[in-house]
Amino acid sequence: MKKLFKGLLVAAMALTMTACGGNDASTADNTSDKEVVEINIAVSPDYAPYESLDTEGNIIGFDPDMIALFPSYLNDENTEYKFVWHQMSFENIVTQVQNGQVDLGVSGFTYDESRKVEWSKPYTATAQVAVVNKDSDIKTVDDLEGKVIAAQSGATGEKAAKSIKNAQVVSVSNVQEIFSALTSKQYDAVVVDLAVAQNYVKEQGFVMLDESLLDEENYIIAKEGNTEMIDLVNKCLDQFLASDDYGTLCEKYGLKQLEN
Ligand code: ARG
Repeated sequence: MKKLFKGLLVAAMALTMTACGGNDASTADNTSDKEVVEINIAVSPDYAPYESLDTEGNIIGFDPDMIALFPSYLNDENTEYKFVWHQMSFENIVTQVQNGQVDLGVSGFTYDESRKVEWSKPYTATAQVAVVNKDSDIKTVDDLEGKVIAAQSGATGEKAAKSIKNAQVVSVSNVQEIFSALTSKQYDAVVVDLAVAQNYVKEQGFVMLDESLLDEENYIIAKEGNTEMIDLVNKCLDQFLASDDYGTLCEKYGLKQLEN
C-alpha cells in the first residue's frame, strides 16, 4: 500500500507541475515515468477450476483470469498496476495476509468469521459439498454420519465436515492429494467447493451428493483494516461483475454467477 500511496503522490505532483507550467514536453511524453504499483497475491493452486497449475507450471483458472483483467480497470496515464502471484499452502494464506507479507489472498476464499481479515464483496456463488467414490454406499448427506471425511486444512470445508454427526474429519494440506487418497478409499468422502466437486465428477468420475452442507460465496481477502486495498479490489469487482467477461469466465470454468 505504501507503493500505492506513493503512486498517488506522484500523480498529484505531476498535476501540480502541469498546473505551474513547469512540465516540459520531453517529460510529459515520457511513458516510462509511469508509477508501477505492485500488488502481491497469495494463492494455493490446488483447486481447479479456481486455480491450478498447467504442465508448464503456470497458474490457470477463474481466479487468475479474473485478476488479469484488473489492470485494465485501474491503469491510467500515471499508474500501471502489476499483480504478482505467490504460491503457498492454503492454510498459510490468511497468516501471510495478516502479517502483510502479501497484499491479497485470492484462492476461492469463502467467508469464515474466524478469519480476521478484510473481505471484498463476493464474486461468485458456491457451496461446500461432499464427493464420494462411484461405488460408495453414501447416497445422501444423512449417510455421511459417522464416516471418515477429508477436507483441506484450514478450509471452510473442514468446518462443514465437522458439523456432520460423529464424522471423523481428516485435514489434509493439498486438495489434489485428498482426491488421490479418496480413489484409494482412504476416506469415505471429501468436502470442497461446488465447482471443484463438479470438476472432479466430470474429470475423474466421482459422485457429488446433491444436498449442500453450507451455502457460501467467494471473496478476495486483504489485511484487516486495509480498507484502501479492499476499496481498490471492490472497484475492480464492480466493473468485472458488470462486464460480459463475468458470464464468459463463469461459463468457461463452471462457476456459479451471483444472483442479483
Ligand atoms: N472456499 C474454501 C475456504 O475458503 C476453500 C478454498 C480453498 N482454496 C484453494 N485454493 N485450495 O476455506
